Amino acid sequence: MNKKRLLSGVQPTGELHIGNWLGAIRNWVTLQNQYESYVCVVDLHAITVPHDPKKLKENTLKTAALYVACGMDPNECTIFIQSHIAAHSELCWLLNCVTPINWMERMIQFKEKAVKQGNNVSLGLLDYPVLMAADILLYDADVVPVGEDQKQHLELARNIAQQRINSRFSINNKSILKVPEPLIMKDGSKIMSLCDGKSKMSKSDPNEGSRITLLDSPDIIKKKIKRAKTDQYFGLEFNNPERPEAHNLLTIYAMVTDKEKENIKQECANMGWGKFKPLLTEAIISALEPIQEKYNLLMQDKSELNQILKNGTNKAEQVSTITLNRVKNSIGLLNRI
Ligand code: TYM
Repeated sequence: MNKKRLLSGVQPTGELHIGNWLGAIRNWVTLQNQYESYVCVVDLHAITVPHDPKKLKENTLKTAALYVACGMDPNECTIFIQSHIAAHSELCWLLNCVTPINWMERMIQFKEKAVKQGNNVSLGLLDYPVLMAADILLYDADVVPVGEDQKQHLELARNIAQQRINSRFSINNKSILKVPEPLIMKDGSKIMSLCDGKSKMSKSDPNEGSRITLLDSPDIIKKKIKRAKTDQYFGLEFNNPERPEAHNLLTIYAMVTDKEKENIKQECANMGWGKFKPLLTEAIISALEPIQEKYNLLMQDKSELNQILKNGTNKAEQVSTITLNRVKNSIGLLNRI
């Protein structure tokens, strides 16, 4: 029996952080044997906000290396760069022509990012979720493992597929696009900033101390955790609305140690911040150590990584071309001879 399909991606904007890992990449790794998996570095999304061309190239390769370093197995899954497959931009255009503008204006992430750009908001930023829908729909993805913040974008992809393509253009009730399901895990889907337990850990936060990146050295991790915001209470607990920092740091601790929350609850119930922080620091350093080792190897000699991406491009191209042609044909574009 054919496996169900999975697709996901991360933007190569800045350094990947433990939120990207715990909220998304680590779940891809767990699911890669169960699903036929496609994971891409979404560089076309990264240019929807002002960017440095040289850094974008570097970060694109670094992000692909981190997928492999985190455990994505190129023999099991397809790893590729979004801009290497022209079908992403092409399907995006086709979907643009059927998606109402007012669906786009409701997107929370657009509103948040647009405020930061002032008068310089690009049309690409407004269109970001349609390109994301194209990424997903091109591979007939059944599931899309993402963090909590992507829920609304997934809903949009589902609506475009169902309401704007399938219900308008299907012939004999045969759907043209697969309607995907978001896969948002209970734990780790929203890792918060180290400086404020009420705001999300983010690559674009100007304060580097707000996040731990996957490539932070042990020294940097120590410093960041030492400065992380705490509260005045003794003993640590999950789910106390007045203690968002305690909940966040305990969640990170549980996830990087792979311990049950119930055990962590008991371990830390009578622990002060002074004792907890060094434990958390060591746990994060040990969890990131194997990733950093593998990453350094891949980046020392890039031939393996280049081959992985080449194979990925070939496979992604084959699969995406089939879907693109199906959509073109169904909406009335004349077949090429
Ligand atoms: P990006 O790069 O902003 O985020 C990549 C993934 O990391 C998750 N994430 C988090 N999870 C938990 N806690 C956090 N603090 C945190 N911050 C980020 C995101 O939810 C995401 O899963 N728009 C996508 C990129 C994309 C995509 C796609 C994803 C483009 N096309 C197709 C899936 C399928 C994004 O948020 O990238």
